[in-house]
Amino acid sequence: MLVVKNAAQLVGSPQPGPRLRRGSALREVPTIPDGAVVIRGERIDWVGPTRDLPALPAAARVIDAAGQVVLPGFVDSHTHLIFAGSREDEFEQRLEGLTYQQIAERGGGINATVRRVRAASREELKSLARPRLQRLLSHGVTTVEVKSGYGLTPADEVKCLEAVAELNAEGPLELVPTFLGAHAVPPEYRSDRDGYLRLLIDDMLPEVARGRLAEFCDVFCETGVFSVEESRRILTRAHELGYRLKLHADELTPLGGAELAAQLGAASADHLLCVTEAGIDALAASGTVATLLPGTAFFLGMPWAPARQLIERGAAVAVASDCNPGTCPTENLPLVGAMACTQMKMLPAEVVNALTLNAAAALGRADRLGSLEPGKQADLVLCDVPDYRHLFYHFGINHVRRVIKRGRVVCAA
Ligand code: NIG
Ligand code: FE
Repeated sequence: MLVVKNAAQLVGSPQPGPRLRRGSALREVPTIPDGAVVIRGERIDWVGPTRDLPALPAAARVIDAAGQVVLPGFVDSHTHLIFAGSREDEFEQRLEGLTYQQIAERGGGINATVRRVRAASREELKSLARPRLQRLLSHGVTTVEVKSGYGLTPADEVKCLEAVAELNAEGPLELVPTFLGAHAVPPEYRSDRDGYLRLLIDDMLPEVARGRLAEFCDVFCETGVFSVEESRRILTRAHELGYRLKLHADELTPLGGAELAAQLGAASADHLLCVTEAGIDALAASGTVATLLPGTAFFLGMPWAPARQLIERGAAVAVASDCNPGTCPTENLPLVGAMACTQMKMLPAEVVNALTLNAAAALGRADRLGSLEPGKQADLVLCDVPDYRHLFYHFGINHVRRVIKRGRVVCAA
């Protein structure tokens, strides 16, 4: 048994809470001053004020969280962290005025990373990913979605997803695999896009499904990448094969990805920098989580996603890192949360929900993850701040002192 007590503030509740927060409920964060949590095995047994702690067995391990805030472990619901190489050359080219799309047309962008990933072995990819996972963990992330999408052949996509499965088995982070074979049309299919679509639909999707290598299927629905109709074809087949759906929607141009994601009942529509009014309404009326990735807008120097409109119209908003070598090379999820506050005007309470409960919902795991309440998995983060707002207010600093995953202390600073 593990007990965390004397927390200056505990973000959690003794009673079961909702499995998703939208609209004005997004700013409700249950807190307990001088809070405590009792953990038995991998689960939370009890949550409440320290003075009400039940009698504990002598063998219980006790962590004194005095002066700290205890939160649910962060869920990073959108990353591309299986990759090789880096793209600081493109970073510089963009600063000199080229756009992301222009760089991609010249052979850079996603396909630059594809060349590096194809040349790397599964073991190499795992070795490259481990320090990234460690940095995520040290910033309080206990569950992370990881997409393939830099292999773009059946064998290379499988190699990436097997790397994800093996890293998940290594622990302590929980990895959620997403198949993103529709991330780009690879160069060898440039003059035969329909051939690549057939490869995706007839070969890759069934093969990945047979191997149970991915829970979700995602598509980069974007001008010059995959159209709305192509995305629909891919996702419809994926749904038939048992995948849950995600979509890179309206990231660089307003194409209608949000509407498609809502229509197909996707778990999430992600990016949304250019979402239209109709897209906002479609998401608000759906169960699809609107996942915002402000680190990408920051890094590309793009306008921010309309978080306030999404929230005010009733969409369920999550925030994630998008950690990838091209458009957001960072593992500092709390810093991305600070961007959500200062640039998209989300309140700290909204960001806390967006990084925990709603992010868990975007991964279909809100019944088990994303909040501290009895019965849920014991994934906790202890931060050296007096109040959760300091996480984003005192920005760019890692305040995380301890991380607990499945009831075990897995990171201590
Ligand atoms: O989420 N938009 C597509 N995928 C990534 C970028 C990947 C890359 O440039 O390597 C994104 O921004
Ligand atoms: Fe992405």
